[in-house]
Amino acid sequence: IVVRAFSHSFVIPEFRSFCDDIDKIYHQCKNNQNGQTTQYIPQLANKNPKFWAVSMCTVDGQRYSVGDVKESFTIQSCSKPLTYAIACAENGPEKMHQYIGFEPSGRFFNELCLDYKNKPHNPMINSGAILTAALIKPTLSAADRFDYILEMYKRLAGSEYLGFNNSVFLSEKECADRNFALAYFMRENKCFPPGTKLQETLEFYFQLCSLEITAESGAVMAATLANGGINPLTGDPVLTCEAVRNTLTLMHSCGMYNYSGQFAFKVGLPAKSGVSGCILLVVPNTVGFCLWSPPLDANGNSVRGVEFCSELVNLFKFHHF
Ligand code: DON
Repeated sequence: IVVRAFSHSFVIPEFRSFCDDIDKIYHQCKNNQNGQTTQYIPQLANKNPKFWAVSMCTVDGQRYSVGDVKESFTIQSCSKPLTYAIACAENGPEKMHQYIGFEPSGRFFNELCLDYKNKPHNPMINSGAILTAALIKPTLSAADRFDYILEMYKRLAGSEYLGFNNSVFLSEKECADRNFALAYFMRENKCFPPGTKLQETLEFYFQLCSLEITAESGAVMAATLANGGINPLTGDPVLTCEAVRNTLTLMHSCGMYNYSGQFAFKVGLPAKSGVSGCILLVVPNTVGFCLWSPPLDANGNSVRGVEFCSELVNLFKFHHF
């Protein structure tokens, strides 16, 4: 980083003025009072709708954060691309996609449906993520598997905060009739690899959703994806390039719920949202963002987060095409 600084070869050379623009967009989005916190997970319903955080980390380790960036929140569905990337690096894409499809479902993220081959449509919706959970180190005990994934997530976040929110986990386990229904529906349709333990797999999926981050740690994770799987702060090669490419492709087509097509059209970048109000946004080879604000729109995406993404590509030519 020092060599780059002296040779003026940072990926975003005018970093100060870039941060000033990020600040302006942040404040513009702050005024947006629309949306409502998620209601179906009791522990998330009570979050303060005023929270709003933007954090970013470039592939060469320059960082900037504004707003409630030290506040922790559960990662929810933003775990889906990360767990998929870890599972892909572990199993290879062929094995993963024996069980999971590639296509956007065009349905809600937790709808009871499978594709025409009787597979979950993709790993970014609940059914596909429950299947992904079943493909992570299936021979380990539940405790060892959790330790393994925690270690992998810690490597993705570098030294930034990574925790576990037990009350959200318990709340999800109590109120997750839909996820139980999805898992039984998939078992009926022989979606799982032989020997899958249903209860254990679901609990693992809830644990993944209940991992806790801050906008700052989310930004480092997104930057690791932007940097081909190498954590830009630690230099740790956490994921393979191939796993990252597969993950970013599916984030691009399926990451923003039923808004994915419009998001790809308007913003043109891989992103994933979660019902806690977080969005991981990746500008490949350049920068990773984590945006967090609890009020959601009708699609389930953070209102301020989506506005931020649109404003960002209005100002900078990050759109892929
Ligand atoms: O399983 C659920 O419904 C939540 N734990 C996660 C939902 C979420 O963020 C939706 N994403 N696709």
